Amino acid sequence: MTDELRYRRLLPTLGSLLTAYDKPITNLANCASAIYHEFEKMNWVGFYLFDGKELYLGPFHGKPACARIELGKGVCGTAALERRAIVVPDVDKFPGHIACDSASRSEIVIPIVLRGALYGVLDADAPEPDAFGDVDREYLGAVVELLADGRLG
Ligand code: SME
Repeated sequence: MTDELRYRRLLPTLGSLLTAYDKPITNLANCASAIYHEFEKMNWVGFYLFDGKELYLGPFHGKPACARIELGKGVCGTAALERRAIVVPDVDKFPGHIACDSASRSEIVIPIVLRGALYGVLDADAPEPDAFGDVDREYLGAVVELLADGRLG
């Protein structure tokens, strides 16, 4: 099955799994789990959340990861600061990449902006280089929009 078909199956599942009645942390936890289990190519999927000063580790699936990331540092901090999605085909070639799991070779980070304010980022890693592209950027962007649509408070 192609990644696009997987995302097209995942989005409606998330649409009913994540609800406005549940707490943001519950929705983030279920979202990370659903993405992780849909895609064998990912070894880490999760969220870093913004506390007004820096990013801190939120719900995730995968190995334990660094607890805090400064804005502007690493892929996550850069995506958060610049509020743009970043696809990294080879993490060794991204200056300042923060290695949490040494198995990770490529990465995608999507910023989450809620009512104009930075909320955090969605981060996915893969053990293969070049694992992420436009399809991931588009559909993970749609996942973030779904979350920001009433499911994060
Ligand atoms: N590689 C990220 C750090 C988070 S881990 O991948 C889970 C970065 O450079 O921001």
